[in-house]
Amino acid sequence: MSLTKTSEFNEIINDIINKQEFEALKDELHHGVSRYHHCLRVAKGTYLLTKKFNLDYERATRAALLHDFFTNEDTKEYKAVTTLKIHPDVAVINAKKYFDIDKMQENVIASHMFPICKVKPKYKEAWITSCVDKAVAAYEMYRFKASLVMGVWLIFIFNLIFIQK
Ligand SMILES: [Fe+2]
Ligand SMILES: [Fe+2]
Repeated sequence: MSLTKTSEFNEIINDIINKQEFEALKDELHHGVSRYHHCLRVAKGTYLLTKKFNLDYERATRAALLHDFFTNEDTKEYKAVTTLKIHPDVAVINAKKYFDIDKMQENVIASHMFPICKVKPKYKEAWITSCVDKAVAAYEMYRFKASLVMGVWLIFIFNLIFIQK
C-alpha cells in the first residue's frame, strides 16, 4: 500500500484501534492470529477495494474493522457453531456501544458471515467486506494449519531420531 493510502487508512481507523475495548482483541485468538490483526487485515482489504470502486470507503473501512468486535467472554455461553452464526450480532452491539455506526455500517458488520448468518448484505460495501473476510480467513487458517502440520512432523522426526534410539 502506498504511503498516502497507508496514512489515509491509519487516519480512518485511528480512534478505533486506540480504544481500550478494541485493543482487548489483541489477546483473542482467531484463525491462528489475534482477532485484532484479523480485523485490521479485513479493514485494509475493504479499504483498498471500496476505494478502487469509488464506494463509501471511509465508513466501510471502519465497519470492516469492527466486523469481529467481540471477545470470547462475550460468546462463552454459546457452542462454536452458534458463535459462528451469532457473533456478527454481538459485534453490532459492541460497535454501537463504543462507536457511532449508521445503517450501512451495521449491515456490513451484521451480514459479514452471510450465508451462515441470516442478515444479507444490502450494500456493495457489505458484499465486499463479506468476501474480503472469507479470503482473509482462508489465508489465515491455511497459514495456521500449515505451521501446525509442520510442527507435528518436526515432533515426529525428532521423536524418530532422538527418542527411539
Ligand atoms: Fe466474523
Ligand atoms: Fe472475520
